[in-house]
Amino acid sequence: MKHFIVLFAGLLLPLVRRTTASPAPHLQRRYGDLVVHEKRAFNDELEARGESNLRRRLESDVTLPLRIALKQRNLDALPEYLLSVSDPFSASYGEHWTHERILEAFAPSPKAHETVRSWLVDVGGFEESRVSVSKNGGWVEVVGGATVAEAEGLLKAEYHIFTRDEGDDVVGCQNYSLPAQVAEHVDFVVPTVQPGIKLVKSEKKRRSLARRDLPVQARDLNVGRAIPPGSLTGCDTAVVPACLKTLYNMSYTPKATDRNTFGIVSHYPLTYLQSDLDTFFGNFSPSLVGKSPTLVSINGGGIEVGPTSDVGEDGWILEYAMTLVAPQPVQLLQSGSAQTSVGGITDISFNEWLDAMDGSYCTSQGGDDFTYDPQLPNPFPGGFADHSCGTIPNATRPLVVSNSQAAHEYFFSEFYLKRQCNEFAKLGMMGVTILYAAGNTGVAGQRGYCLDDNGSLNLNGTNFTPNWPASCPWVTVVGGTQVKPSAASSNTSTAGSHPEEVWNQDLTSGFFESSGGGFSNHFDSPAYQHSAVQAYLKALGKDGKGKFNAKGRAYPDLSANANMFVNIDNGAISIDSGTSGATPTVASIITLVNDARISAGKKPVGFINPTIYSPAFANAFNDIVDGTSQGCKGLQGDRGGGFKATKGWDAATGLGTPNLGVLIEKWLALP
Ligand SMILES: *[C@@H]1O[C@H](CO)[C@@H](O)[C@H](O)[C@H]1NC(C)=O
Ligand SMILES: *[C@@H]1O[C@H](CO)[C@@H](O)[C@H](O)[C@H]1NC(C)=O
Ligand SMILES: *[C@@H]1O[C@H](CO)[C@@H](O)[C@H](O)[C@H]1NC(C)=O
Ligand SMILES: *[C@@H]1O[C@H](CO)[C@@H](O)[C@H](O)[C@H]1NC(C)=O
Ligand SMILES: *[C@@H]1O[C@H](CO)[C@@H](O)[C@H](O)[C@H]1NC(C)=O
Ligand SMILES: *[C@@H]1O[C@H](CO)[C@@H](O)[C@H](O)[C@H]1NC(C)=O
Repeated sequence: MKHFIVLFAGLLLPLVRRTTASPAPHLQRRYGDLVVHEKRAFNDELEARGESNLRRRLESDVTLPLRIALKQRNLDALPEYLLSVSDPFSASYGEHWTHERILEAFAPSPKAHETVRSWLVDVGGFEESRVSVSKNGGWVEVVGGATVAEAEGLLKAEYHIFTRDEGDDVVGCQNYSLPAQVAEHVDFVVPTVQPGIKLVKSEKKRRSLARRDLPVQARDLNVGRAIPPGSLTGCDTAVVPACLKTLYNMSYTPKATDRNTFGIVSHYPLTYLQSDLDTFFGNFSPSLVGKSPTLVSINGGGIEVGPTSDVGEDGWILEYAMTLVAPQPVQLLQSGSAQTSVGGITDISFNEWLDAMDGSYCTSQGGDDFTYDPQLPNPFPGGFADHSCGTIPNATRPLVVSNSQAAHEYFFSEFYLKRQCNEFAKLGMMGVTILYAAGNTGVAGQRGYCLDDNGSLNLNGTNFTPNWPASCPWVTVVGGTQVKPSAASSNTSTAGSHPEEVWNQDLTSGFFESSGGGFSNHFDSPAYQHSAVQAYLKALGKDGKGKFNAKGRAYPDLSANANMFVNIDNGAISIDSGTSGATPTVASIITLVNDARISAGKKPVGFINPTIYSPAFANAFNDIVDGTSQGCKGLQGDRGGGFKATKGWDAATGLGTPNLGVLIEKWLALP
């Protein structure tokens, strides 16, 4: 008999029954004392109410796909390696690593393979032929799986079936043990305690697009209007590309377009209409009419225009990014498709584009986590039968990657956050600049939710809720600004003035949106930002004290206009706001800096944070000193508890907004 069981929020497992040799637990001692390797209370929420979601013990002859994730070497040295190629004071600045060198540096040791393999044979009783090492050496697998009896004997665990709040049955154990000599080489074993079978709220799955639409009347906008050079007329209520070019001193025309690359990540069902791009280009960048982004398909992603697709966000982002970097081609890294979501098991996952960029990431440290990532190949009939691992060739790998999505750091497990953050660092070592949106709700989570003292999200919470991946120290995070009405009402030049302030929008009564900013609860403040952040904390004094982790990685790193972008959405003029628009603007600026460096025979900028926080770059940013971001709903007043902009770095706008002309001069002065 063959039947399916749902494991870990979506992993479909064929459970077959078989008999095998029983394990030889007495041999465990040869590998040292048994120690509990991981444990997790599966049912703590229910248990708090005196209930349990434990259904029954899993039958001993059921087969589980047993995988053992090996510890990578040298992960502790990752920050040091990354800084050695991205700190402007380092002798090896810009000497990025090849993919091969990275694989070699972090691969688990041969000793780890040997130890785990012989333990599986000696203690687990598996024949040599049933033990296989993955191609990248990241994990060891029992081919064809292990029976529950075998796994329980090996791991000193008890497998149970649990019921999740959606009614799905899931399999797992509450804890497992490994002998000491094996444990030192093992990250974790699946399936065991991971991932979060702890009852999840539906909110767990929600990624926010850092975007907000405002319906507008076409006649209100003088869309194609000319803005005198150096002026910001009307840029407070309707931003067009000329506003950004004026604000950010953008007059550079790319010359190295054949050697430069720039990618924008998009997730199904977001897509764009060529007719929207063409209408926009016709008004603002006529040479681009008829031009499309280069599609980089990830996990079946394509330009799927249908009843469920959303053409707003991508259209807006592409219209601006393609205009700002023209004639540099733009890649659209489009991940997921209707087929990926057959069976309803897909979701926006930041691991999809990372897997496509670095095939070794698909499997290293146990691979994707199906609590958060789609299971691929999708086992449902009609599901996407492949998985894009390392499918982006190194020759066309985007040097700058713009991501306009944000999720709550709170939703993910510690292990998941660390693994993903390490991967961002590895791409930085390869010379890739990764930009993420800071989010649109100030220090709060979506809709003003914040964390309470028990660590749950609710409207009464008063502890700030950091965003992910913004809180990873190895990405560059973009906050939001807006043009002050006073700066937009005259034709005078903006040089020397402070035309921008913290982005704050009050579109719906009682509902504010503003630049995301905050401090990680999982990652410490990295050295590159330490003195900037310390100065800000000092200036804050008691403001917000105790509501955030003052020792955490602080964001945003920099910012750009997030307010009132005029764009074409499904044939109509639309106005969108959000850090979704600020992020591709900064990504376009970094792409132009890369062009200048590549044209001068230099390397791309890669991970930019150590450079932009360095004193030499201070005057390459327009410091934002006015405005305050939004706070938690649970605090008095909607804006209570937000972060104020100050001189120097602040947790509302980072270092400020970029001045492209000056950035190019500074970056050309570096080796
Ligand atoms: C491990 O899990 C079992 C149930 O399978 C439980 O009885 C035991 O107390 C747990 N041990 C630890 C150390 O959590
Ligand atoms: C891409 O990687 C291959 C081997 O993995 C290597 O031979 C080739 O030189 C690389 N190309 C570039 C442009 O780095
Ligand atoms: C934290 O949880 C405890 C026990 O469930 C509850 O009594 C208390 O009110 C909660 N505190 C907050 C701030 O929600
Ligand atoms: C928030 O606080 C109010 C007043 O104390 C209470 O009525 C409400 O249930 C609380 N909401 C949550 C989600 O804890
Ligand atoms: C700004 O300049 C434009 C054209 O150069 C002109 O039409 C407009 O009236 C001027 N606006 C103000 C406020 O001076
Ligand atoms: C704009 O950039 C140019 C170099 O392209 C520089 O000479 C100029 O000073 C910059 N303008 C401002 C206002 O910083």
